[in-house]
Amino acid sequence: MKEFLNHKKGVIVAEMKKIAHPRQVILVSTRGKVKSKFSPEEDEKDNLFTLSWHMPVSNEPQLYAISSGKERFSTKLIQESKVFAVNFMSSEFEKEVVYCGTYSGEHIDKFEETGLEKEESEKIDCPRIRQAMACLECEVVNEVEAGDHIIFIGKVINSISKKQGKRIFQMNDRFIGAGDER
Ligand SMILES: Cc1cc2nc3c(=O)[nH]c(=O)nc-3n(C[C@H](O)[C@H](O)[C@H](O)COP(=O)(O)O)c2cc1C
Repeated sequence: MKEFLNHKKGVIVAEMKKIAHPRQVILVSTRGKVKSKFSPEEDEKDNLFTLSWHMPVSNEPQLYAISSGKERFSTKLIQESKVFAVNFMSSEFEKEVVYCGTYSGEHIDKFEETGLEKEESEKIDCPRIRQAMACLECEVVNEVEAGDHIIFIGKVINSISKKQGKRIFQMNDRFIGAGDER
């Protein structure tokens, strides 16, 4: 018992989210209508945000889930448009991934700011990233409240695999590249 207590003392209490690391980091692209500052019409806004909380959740039908903070600008865009695209990035895009995960797209254009190039998705009305290694085009079929996040479950309408290489993973406060061959 004593040993156990001593041992327990030595345990470092880590944050839940860090225990779940390493996690692959992705960029989700969105397109939605927002109120215009200058006219009664609505503006269309394309945006990007960084996620490490995401996963495949069903084979038949093919479903992919992302967990998006309730207050995120991207959450509002997805709730409005009911679509999103998942972009799997290579480790060379660490700077862009950090940028998209640091600044809100509400008042800036993250495609312009990062230099990531837009290409139109084939099956949904939403941009994808040209430089992505792979993409999933998703239509929202369910929204689940999970504490301070919303889990969007997307039906994968189209999946594109473009290149091989190292994907970007988050490990505590740093990023690592992993997974050469597919
Ligand atoms: C490495 C990394 C991982 C992140 N993972 C998530 C995530 O899984 N879910 C989420 O809602 N936000 C996540 N974020 C935070 C958002 O990307 C960030 O708040 C972003 O600025 C939101 O952009 P938006 O306001 O344009 O939607 C992450 C940020 C970083 C840097």
